[in-house]
Amino acid sequence: MATVVQFTLNGTPKAVAIEGWEKILDVLREDLNLTGTKRGCDDGTCGACTILLNGKAVRSCLFPAAKLEGADVLTIEGLSDGMEIHPIQRALIEAGAVQCGYCIPGIVLELYGLFTANPRATQEEIKAVLSKHFCRCTGYEAIWNGALLAQQYMLQGS
Ligand code: FES
Ligand code: FES
Repeated sequence: MATVVQFTLNGTPKAVAIEGWEKILDVLREDLNLTGTKRGCDDGTCGACTILLNGKAVRSCLFPAAKLEGADVLTIEGLSDGMEIHPIQRALIEAGAVQCGYCIPGIVLELYGLFTANPRATQEEIKAVLSKHFCRCTGYEAIWNGALLAQQYMLQGS
C-alpha cells in the first residue's frame, strides 16, 4: 500500500506517494522524472546515483524511500542557478572530465558535499571521496584535475 512522504527537494516542498519497495533513486527517477540522478550498479558500488540527503552525500539506490520523510534533498537539478551551471560543473568540463557524462552528476554532488562542509579539504580527502566513484571513460586524471579546479573556483566564489 502506498504511503505519502513529505520532504524538501531542491528547495521546494514535495509530497509523494511511495511504495514500500522503492528506494530514493526510484522516487527521483521514476516518480518525479528527475533523471539527472543516474542508475548504474543499483547496489551501492558505482556512485552514479549520489545525491545530498540532509547535506550528506549518499547513494540513493541504497536508501529506502521512507527515509525521505522530513528530509532535505539536493539533486543535480537543484544545483544550477537558472541557465548558469555550477562552478563544479564548469571545472569538470574545463578539465575534460566530461565524456559520456554518466558518472558526472554523482561526482559533482559528492564534491559539492565535500567542499561545502570543508572548503579547504586536503588532496587526501578529495581522493577519498573520488575513489567511491566509477568512471568508464576518462581514466580519472581529468576528474582529479577537475576536482582541484572546482575547489579553487568554490574558494574564489566564482
Ligand atoms: S547506482 Fe547507486 S551506487 Fe551505483
Ligand atoms: S564520463 Fe563516462 S562514465 Fe564518466
